[in-house]
Amino acid sequence: MPVAFGGKLQSAQVGRPNRPAGSQGRQTARILSRDVVPSDGTQSANSGPGTGGSLQHWRQPADASSVVPLQQSLAMEHAAWFPALVEHSPNLTVVVDRDGTVIFANPTALKMFGVSLEEAIGASGFAYIHPDDIERLANRFAKLVELPDISHFDTLRFVDPKGEVRVLETVATNLLEDEAVAGIVINGHDVTERDRYLTQLESTLEAVTVAVSTMVELRDPYTAGHQRQVARLAVAIAIELGLQADEVHGIEVAATIHDIGKISLPVEILTRPGRITPLEFEIVKTHAQAGHDIVANVPFPWPVADMILQHHERLDGSGYPNGLRGGAILPGSRIVTVADVVSAMSEHRPYRVSLGIDRALDELQSNSGRLYDEAVVAACLRLHDRHALPVSDSTL
Ligand SMILES: [Fe+2]
Ligand SMILES: [Fe+2]
Repeated sequence: MPVAFGGKLQSAQVGRPNRPAGSQGRQTARILSRDVVPSDGTQSANSGPGTGGSLQHWRQPADASSVVPLQQSLAMEHAAWFPALVEHSPNLTVVVDRDGTVIFANPTALKMFGVSLEEAIGASGFAYIHPDDIERLANRFAKLVELPDISHFDTLRFVDPKGEVRVLETVATNLLEDEAVAGIVINGHDVTERDRYLTQLESTLEAVTVAVSTMVELRDPYTAGHQRQVARLAVAIAIELGLQADEVHGIEVAATIHDIGKISLPVEILTRPGRITPLEFEIVKTHAQAGHDIVANVPFPWPVADMILQHHERLDGSGYPNGLRGGAILPGSRIVTVADVVSAMSEHRPYRVSLGIDRALDELQSNSGRLYDEAVVAACLRLHDRHALPVSDSTL
């Protein structure tokens, strides 16, 4: 029975989790606002230019008489703490009105943007945003203004006083209808260093993966470049299938090292001309399990070891090493498998010349749904029809 392509990879489960809809942030903002808005709307006497975002600097709400008196709320018993929490928070807190004009900014926000309180209050909140992010954020802001009590999570960039582009993760909550706030409360924290670290880690992972791939191919010159070719094909197919970028990346990593287990094979088997014997083929088959074992303890955020283990499995159970059937085979492995067939049949081998891309596609078509995933094969054929299948000239 043909097995429909699942579409969702296991890797999706380990991707970046969805952020929860933030009721907590809303409650926090509510408590702060009711506590810190001076009932008479005055500013503190010790607030000079650049003194930071004292909570006394709230602009008077449109209707000061509507501010809920502190004593009316039992929840405000410990309200005296909250001004200090905002004042000393390492996170940014900014409140803007429905036009995006700043009505409050805490000291962290002022320091991040390099402005005094007097400069911040009354300025447009968008003045501090990176120019390339303004249009997107303005659109999101316009929607948020229409949605009371809703929080929006976002990532945005701004330019700090040194001219350096920095990244903020923010949650903006619409409290325009909250009489005590009458604004959009934006909380945010700087994730620039974390993002840099993650980017560096990703580059390192990529470089190590390619290094390992090259190491295997140094022992097996006849298949030099094979794994990277499989990776290019697998990525193109995964994108054609509409997979998420994170899933595509996981498949790319698995494909780049899918034959890593060949490092355990005797070099004589890898390089000798002529067809291998049945006994030698049994030895070759061990490379799938060996590859799995080599990377099993690497904490990839995708099921790379299992994708490697399964890259020679076939839907009807005729593959190896475990004779898995249909849905037991990971979607990512089904993609690597098809890419592997295209690449292997298109390349020269010690015992034969290239069979060519057309023979490879014939093989896929005749066994689509029996050995190979129908959706994956169809995606591969579509790419070929559009001349978008990344095969090198030598394989054509
Ligand atoms: Fe293989
Ligand atoms: Fe391969």
